[in-house]
Amino acid sequence: MSEQNNNDLVASLMSALPQPVLLVDDSGIVTAANSAALDLFGARIQGAPLRAHLRQPEVTAMLEHALSGADGGQANFTATGVAVETIWQVTARRMAGRGLVISLRDVSDIEAASAQRRDFVANVSHELRSPLTVLAGFIETLQGPAGDDPTARAEFLGIMSDQAARMTGLVADLLSLSRVEAVAKIRPRAPVAVDAVLHATLAALRPRITAAGMEVVCDLPPDLPQVPGDHDQLVQVFSNLIENAVKYGSSGGRVEIDARVFADMHGFDGPVLQVNVRDFGEGIDPVYIPRLTERFYRVDKGRARDSGGTGLGLAIVKHIMSRHRGRLVIESSVGAGVRAGVILPVR
Ligand SMILES: Nc1ncnc2c1ncn2[C@@H]1O[C@H](COP(=O)(O)OP(=O)(O)OP(=O)(O)O)[C@@H](O)[C@H]1O
Ligand SMILES: [Mg+2]
Repeated sequence: MSEQNNNDLVASLMSALPQPVLLVDDSGIVTAANSAALDLFGARIQGAPLRAHLRQPEVTAMLEHALSGADGGQANFTATGVAVETIWQVTARRMAGRGLVISLRDVSDIEAASAQRRDFVANVSHELRSPLTVLAGFIETLQGPAGDDPTARAEFLGIMSDQAARMTGLVADLLSLSRVEAVAKIRPRAPVAVDAVLHATLAALRPRITAAGMEVVCDLPPDLPQVPGDHDQLVQVFSNLIENAVKYGSSGGRVEIDARVFADMHGFDGPVLQVNVRDFGEGIDPVYIPRLTERFYRVDKGRARDSGGTGLGLAIVKHIMSRHRGRLVIESSVGAGVRAGVILPVR
């Protein structure tokens, strides 16, 4: 094949590739760039030294190493100053007699997912470590002279049992989160009677409601339609919401639950059922509301933890709602309690 044909072939190969690809000669000057590369670096990249455009120590070192005769290399380049920060994986490969082929791959999503995984593991470990530390401390105390004091023993065992319950709760939350995620893409379709779900949930929570000295008023219209859903998951949604209202809204003394059908609502195709759980406690500053559904997020870490919260409840609710093609709406202002609304498509 002639040199000209060869060049044409290389050029058409490069233009057929969706990701940015460049050729550089042995001195690091760009001799060719496909259109994705031109979009990324601008037309000025042609004939310019590539290192001037990928000015980050890791990438520069990799390029120098490759230019000095190595087979190739790989390094990440973080493009800042653009609308969304992008992480490019830059790969250099030697091409016989032609210098280097440089290709870039957008690995932002992969990097973000692994950062999320790291955070998640760190959070779980942290949440488990504090009750474990308490347990270990009291075990040690009970093994000492305090073990012979019946009053101290009873008190310590009470604390230990609370901490064990907290760990059990955390593990149960984590398991249900992963169960919901496992079936996240499958929309549940069994007909569910929401009024029955609410009454069953309230019955199960009754002891806690009584212990908190709260009154729950459940005002449901008689002709509530069934919704396609997953019965157990909807029980979980309402338990989490009512539990929060009882736990954090106890100063308001009462919780109100109401439900209503809307023939249409923005963002939905057909009729929807909205169920609101409302308390009259301290409420939440609206600036924190967007973060409530993040895993492990608590508005007031200390206080929520004292009441046994791990910050997973609303994350689970959000996942279940998205599986049901529904929505969770939280409204609040400081001192005015919280209204948590669940919107479910009726068909
Ligand atoms: N009704 C409410 N009133 C005031 N604050 C609330 C209310 N509901 C939730 N919050 C705040 O939102 C945070 C997140 O709630 P979420 O249900 O996700 O977690 P949690 O209750 O802390 O723990 P978990 O539900 O896993 O036991 C809570 O820690 C609390 O700070
Ligand atoms: Mg909760």
